Order: sequence, then C-alpha cells, then structure tokens
Amino acid sequence: MANVSIDPLLQPIKIGDLELKNRILMSPVVRQVQDDGVPSEKLIRYFRERAEGGVAVSYVGSMLIDHPGNEDAFGPGRGSAPDLHDEAARAGWKKVVDAVHEAGGLIFPQLLHIGAQKAVTHPDNVAYVPSPTWGPTDRATGNSPESVKKLSERPFHELSESEVMDVVEAFATAARRSKEIGFDGIALHGAHGYLLDGFLSGDTNLRTDRWGGDHVGRTAFVVEVLKAIRREVGPGMPISFRFSQWRPCDYDGHLAKTPKELEEILAPIVDAGCDIIEASTRFFTEQAFENEEGNFPYWTRKITGKPTVMCGGTAVHREKYDLATTPPKTVNNMDEVMRRYENGEFDLLAVGRALVNDPNWLVRARNVEDFLPFDGRKLNPAYVGD
Ligand SMILES: Cc1cc2nc3c(=O)[nH]c(=O)nc-3n(C[C@H](O)[C@H](O)[C@H](O)COP(=O)(O)O)c2cc1C
Repeated sequence: MANVSIDPLLQPIKIGDLELKNRILMSPVVRQVQDDGVPSEKLIRYFRERAEGGVAVSYVGSMLIDHPGNEDAFGPGRGSAPDLHDEAARAGWKKVVDAVHEAGGLIFPQLLHIGAQKAVTHPDNVAYVPSPTWGPTDRATGNSPESVKKLSERPFHELSESEVMDVVEAFATAARRSKEIGFDGIALHGAHGYLLDGFLSGDTNLRTDRWGGDHVGRTAFVVEVLKAIRREVGPGMPISFRFSQWRPCDYDGHLAKTPKELEEILAPIVDAGCDIIEASTRFFTEQAFENEEGNFPYWTRKITGKPTVMCGGTAVHREKYDLATTPPKTVNNMDEVMRRYENGEFDLLAVGRALVNDPNWLVRARNVEDFLPFDGRKLNPAYVGD
C-alpha cells in the first residue's frame, strides 16, 4: 500500500472558459445505451455516481458521429455505443449532463469515428478507412490471431478525397449538438487505431493526396476536424485531443519515432486549436521512445506546454499483451503517479478502469484508503451498474 497524499492533484486548474475543481478525469470508457440510442436510467446514475465521487470531468467514451462508417460500430444495431443522432438520444444525454452538473462535475463527449476498428458483425460490414488495410498483421498485439485475420480480411471502403470532408462535417455536427445539450467541452478520439489515428499512422495511411504523405501530411485530417469543431463551439470551450503511440495492430508501435517527429506531428494539431492533450498509454511507466527517457505524457507536455493528461495503469495492472477484456488486478501505484506529477510530467490524470470498478475511487485515494478488488464484470460495456 503506497501511503501517499494526492492533495497536489486536487488543486483546481483553469482551461479555456472552464474551471476544473481538481485534476482527476474519468477516462473515456465506452458503455452501451438502449437499442433506440437513449441512455438508460442506470447509465444516468452511473455517470452521476462518478461525479459524486469527486472527479472533475467525466468523459463519455466513444460518442459515435453520424456517418455510415459508424453503423454497427462495436456490434450489431444501435446502442453498442452512444450517439447524438436524434432528438430522443439528445434528450437522454441532456439528462446525463444535468445529473453530472447537479453532482458538481463537468462532462465531455468523446467524439469517435470507428474507422478500421469496426466490429466484424457480418461479412459485408464495411470499414471506412484512409487506405484499405487494418495495418500490419505480424506485430505484437493483444488480439487473438483469429481476430486479427477477421479484422484484416474484412471489406474496406477507402474514403475519397471529398468523402473525407463529409466525415469532417459529421464531427462538426456532433460537436454542435453536444454544445446545445450542455456538455462542457469536446473530446476527440485520435488514438487506438480508430479513424483519426488511422489517418495519423504511416502503417494505415498510405495515401498520396492532401490527406496523406509524411508524418506531418498525415495530420491534415485531424487538423480539419479540430478546425471544424472549433468553428462550431467557439473560442472558449475546451477541446481535448487523445492520441497514442500504440494501436491495436501494434502494441509496441510508435506514431512518432523520435521527439522531433512528435514535435512535428503535434505542431499543426496544437495550432488547429486543442486545449488539452491526452497522451494515452497502456502503461504510464513505459518510455515513449526507445533511447530517450520519459513517458509519452512527459514528452507531449515538454513539446507543447499544453495541459497534458497522463492515462494508463493508474491503480490497476495487467500483463502487456493481455486482451483489453482481461480483468486487471487492483494495485496501489499512487506513489509513482505522484512522483511523476511533482516532477512536472503531466497536468491532469485520467483514470479509467479504477473508476469503472469503483465510483468512489477518488474518495479512497484522497483518504489514502485501500482500493477495492477489481470486479471483472465491469469491463463489459453492457455494465452500467448493479
Ligand atoms: C472496457 C474499456 C472500454 C474503453 N473504452 C474507451 C473509449 O471509449 N475511448 C477511449 O479513448 N478509451 C477507451 N478505453 C481506454 C481507457 O480510456 C484507458 O485509456 C485505458 O483503460 C487505460 O487507463 P486505465 O489504466 O486507467 O484504465 C477503454 C478501456 C476499457 C478497459
């Protein structure tokens, strides 16, 4: 048991027009909604409980934008992930937003296009992608060989130059709807092999048009999406951008091979207008680059000077190539988290599985109490409370 005070992380921070009451975020972790797209009463309670538990901002994982490439995204039918496509769904999400606000929290939707990660629910469930590939199939990954085969041999639709702009506008529409409902900021999923990451990575973007090229050229799509979201939400509303070195086709992958490449990738993205950068890792203890000390958040913050989120492995642990669905063990590594915070390696801490497991995780961390043993059932996106 690491007996360490997390008080420094409980200090407020201002980002854009928003005052965050502390530096703890509930990381986006996808949860199912009802078949008609409406969040259930249980899901409303799920978010309220985590806000009552004290997190400053709850992210709604994988809010699907309205685009054919998101049909049957995580499974057959609507409801495998949240969306804002119609009045009923939006009225439902307004209830979630209101519940979180009443509990003293803030809430951001994480806008997502699933890209190449679309579930292979039926043989013609086409994935809309920058280039017709899931990525390399010979790298270390937590996917089983059968799942890699299915994902890489499924039908792909390569987005044409003008179709890419349709996707940009679908992101803009989702951002506008989010603001109308009362969400406090917008998060953008640019990590983990989904569409935006698909455009960023040289393993999956083989294009030679204006959306492809070298590592800087490949940022063009992300830049357009960020600009379109900013156009819709105005100057003060924070935009949070998540990206990662790794992707499902390559757990040891490197979006940027060197700090210089990282700097060149992030420069246009920061210029396009994001206020928070989520440097997503599977283990925050891992170095970002082979021959350079420092994890991914450390380098991201050093390069951009922007409020940077550390995420991956707070209070939980599982083995490196385990599947995403493998339950972790609860651990207490808050001493290591705080050492890195005091060292200036990050500004905000996103906590995923520990908060899924226990809405009062932050209360326990603040009181230096033991964390609850991990209940594996809760990793299932269908779990929204007992
Ligand atoms: C069941 C499950 C669902 C997840 N859904 C999302 C998601 O919708 N969007 C996202 O960016 N990350 C998602 N993640 C990743 C988490 O946000 C987080 O980055 C990861 O779990 C590592 O952080 P942790 O160790 O604090 O859990 C998910 C993770 C799990 C286990």
